[in-house]
Amino acid sequence: MSNQNNFLQQTHLLLEQKTYDKNDVSLLREVLQFHEQQYYELDSPLISDRQYDQLFTALLQIEKQYPDIITPDSPTQRVGKNASPLFTTEQHLVPMLSLQNTYNEGDLLDWNKRIADALDTPYTFVIEPKYDGASISLVYENNQLKRALTRGNGIAGDQITANALQVYGIPQEVDFLSHHLTQVELRGEVLMSKKSFEQNNADFLAENKSAFVNARNAASGTLRMKDSREVKKRNLTAFVYHLSYYQLQNEQQQFTCEKHHQCLDLLQQLGFQIAEKTHVKVVSSIAEVIAYCKAFEAQRNNLDYDIDGMVIKINELKAQEQLGMTSHHPRWAVAYKFQSYRAETILEKIEYQVGRTGVISPVAKVKPTRIGGVTVSSISVFNENNIQEKDLRIGDTILIERAGDVIPNILHALPEKRNGSEQIIHFPTQCPSCQMPLMKNADEAHWRCNNVVCEAQMVERMIYFCSKDAMDIQFLGESKIKLFFQLGFIKNISDLYQLPFDRISNLDGFGEKTITNLQQALQASKNKPAHFLLLGLGIPFVGKTTAQTLCNAITNLNDLKTMSIESLQQLEDVGPKVAHSIQHFFSHQHHLLLLTQLQQQGLNFTTTKNNNNIDGTLSGKSFLFTGTLQNRKRSDAEQLVKNLGAQISPSVSSKLDYLIVGQDAGSKLEKAKKIGTVNILNESQFEELLHQKNA
Ligand code: IVH
Repeated sequence: MSNQNNFLQQTHLLLEQKTYDKNDVSLLREVLQFHEQQYYELDSPLISDRQYDQLFTALLQIEKQYPDIITPDSPTQRVGKNASPLFTTEQHLVPMLSLQNTYNEGDLLDWNKRIADALDTPYTFVIEPKYDGASISLVYENNQLKRALTRGNGIAGDQITANALQVYGIPQEVDFLSHHLTQVELRGEVLMSKKSFEQNNADFLAENKSAFVNARNAASGTLRMKDSREVKKRNLTAFVYHLSYYQLQNEQQQFTCEKHHQCLDLLQQLGFQIAEKTHVKVVSSIAEVIAYCKAFEAQRNNLDYDIDGMVIKINELKAQEQLGMTSHHPRWAVAYKFQSYRAETILEKIEYQVGRTGVISPVAKVKPTRIGGVTVSSISVFNENNIQEKDLRIGDTILIERAGDVIPNILHALPEKRNGSEQIIHFPTQCPSCQMPLMKNADEAHWRCNNVVCEAQMVERMIYFCSKDAMDIQFLGESKIKLFFQLGFIKNISDLYQLPFDRISNLDGFGEKTITNLQQALQASKNKPAHFLLLGLGIPFVGKTTAQTLCNAITNLNDLKTMSIESLQQLEDVGPKVAHSIQHFFSHQHHLLLLTQLQQQGLNFTTTKNNNNIDGTLSGKSFLFTGTLQNRKRSDAEQLVKNLGAQISPSVSSKLDYLIVGQDAGSKLEKAKKIGTVNILNESQFEELLHQKNA
C-alpha cells in the first residue's frame, strides 16, 4: 500500500468525521495539500470537488474561529500548488483564482442572496458550460501572443507559449489595437475532445504506450509536453471565457464592453473560440439560472468534450468590480457542479491490504465496469464499519459513483437484486500477512496488525521511508523495494543502507549507471535534515508538520526516547493521541535497534534550527508573534528581529525564547504560560527590547 493510500485513508477518516476542531488543523492542511498536488501537479485527482470542499470549508471555519493559527502556506491562503519544474515560471498579471462550488438549488439561492445584499443596482446573469480541461492564461501585447501560462499556483504558472500556439482557438496574432487595446490578459480552458481522446489513446496503445485516464488529464499533460510538434498531433482545442486585464492606448479611450457577454462577442469577432451561442445564456433571475443549469445537466453527455458543471457570472462588469473577490475566488461568479456518474456492478470479493502503520484496508474487487469514461475494477472500502453500514455482501449488485475523474466510491448495495446466494462478509481476525490477531482501538474505525515486524508493514514502511515526502531517495521506488524484499536483500529500513550491490548488479535492468545513481541517492539521504528522517520512520499520526515541530523542540532524534507524554503534549499540534503514539514507538525494542543502526550508518540525527546566520544582538534567540500588533505589521516585526539575528519559531515550545503578544491573542499565549519558561512580552515591552538591542 502506497503513501497515496495512507492519505486516502486519512482523507476518508476526516470526511467521515463531519465535525472538526483545532486538533484537526495540521492533518486537514496536509491532506488538502496532498489532494491539491494530485489535482494540479499530477493531473490525477483522487477525491471529488465536493469532498475537497468539505475539508477545505472545515479548515476555513476553524481558522476563522482561531485566526492566529493561520499560516501563510495554509491551503486557505493560496490557490493550488506550485508549477512544474520543467518550464520557466512567470507571474499572471491578475491572480488566477478558483471558483466557489455550488451543488444544488439552495447553494445557488444563497449565492444570489449575497449578491443582492452587496449590490444596489439591478444585475443579470450569464451562464456558460464549465469546461473540464486545463486552464490557461494568454497575454497579448500589440496584437501578438506574448505568452501563455498554465494556472500553476494561481499566482504564477508554467510558460507554455510554444505549446499553446499548437492549440485550435488560440491565434498568434489578434487585432486588439483596432479596439485600442495594447495589452490584454485572457482566461480560457484547453480541452481534448472526446473524439481526439479516443483517437490519441488508440495511437498510444498501438505504440505500446500507456493511455490517458481521461480527457482532462490528457489535455493538461499534453500542454506540458516538451516537444510542441507532439502537442500539435494531439488536436487540442481552447475556449476563452474571461478577459481578466486590459490596457488602453491612452486615457481618453474607453473600453467598448460594459457586460461580460459583450466581451465574449468581441473575443469571438477577433478570432477566438468562445462557448457555442446555443450554450451560453443571459438571464435575469436566479430561477432561470437554476432551470437552465438543470436542463443543461440532462444533456451534458451530448457534447463532444467534458464539462463538469456550469459557471454563472454576473454580467455587468461594474457590478463584478464592486463585488470583488476573496483570496480564493471571485464573488461575482460561481460554479454549479453536476451530479457524479453512477453505475451498477457486482461485488466479487474483498481483499485486505496491510498499511505501514498496520491498518488493514479492505478493497472491493468488482466486475470491471465502465463509468464516466474509465473502467473500474477495484474500489477502496476503507474500514469494517463501511462494509456494515452499506450492508455489502459478496455477490451483491452494488451502486458505484465517480465524481468527475476521481476515484470511484461504493454508494450502497441493491438488496432488491439479491437471489440468496450472496455471502455475508466476515472481516478477518488475523493479519493476512503475518497471521497475528488483529486489534482495534476503542476510538478508531479500523483494525490494525500491531506486529511491528509484520512483513507487509515492513515493506510499506520502507516504501514510505524512501518516498518523496520523507527521505526522497530517488531511484528507490515501490517496485525496486518490493523486488529487493522478495530476493531477500532487505527486511527493514536500515538494510536499505547495506544493499548487496554485487548481487544487484547481476539483475536485469541494473547497469553501472543505475547502481551509481542508487548509491549516490542513498549517500545523499544521510545528510537530510532530521525531520525528514523522523517523518520517514512512519510513526502513526506523525505527519510533516508534527515531525518539524518535534525537531524544533529537540536537538537530537534520540531525545524523543526519553520525552514524557506531558512534555510532548506541550508542543503545538501534539495532542494525547499523537503523544502516546510517539512514546509507544520509542518504547519498542525493534525501533530502538533501528535507530541505533541508522545512526551507525551515518544518518543525520541532529536537528538544525532554521538559523539565518546573522550575528546580531538577538542571535540564537527565537521569537513568535501572536495576536494583532498595533504599531507594526507582523511581517515587519518579524523582519526586524531576524535582522538582529533571531529566528522565527513556527510554534510555541519550551525552546521558544520570546512570545510577543498583540491584541486578541489566543491559544499560543495559553500554551506559553503553561510552559512557564517563555518570555512573554506585550507590544510596548517588545518595542523596549528592540530599543535596547538596537542601541
Ligand atoms: S471563469 C475569475 N468560466 O473552472 C474567474 N472558469 O473550478 C475565472 N472553468 O479556474 C473563471 N469553465 O479554470 C470560468 N466558463 C468558465 C469555465 C471556467 C471552466 C474553470 C477555470 C476555473 C475552474 C474552477
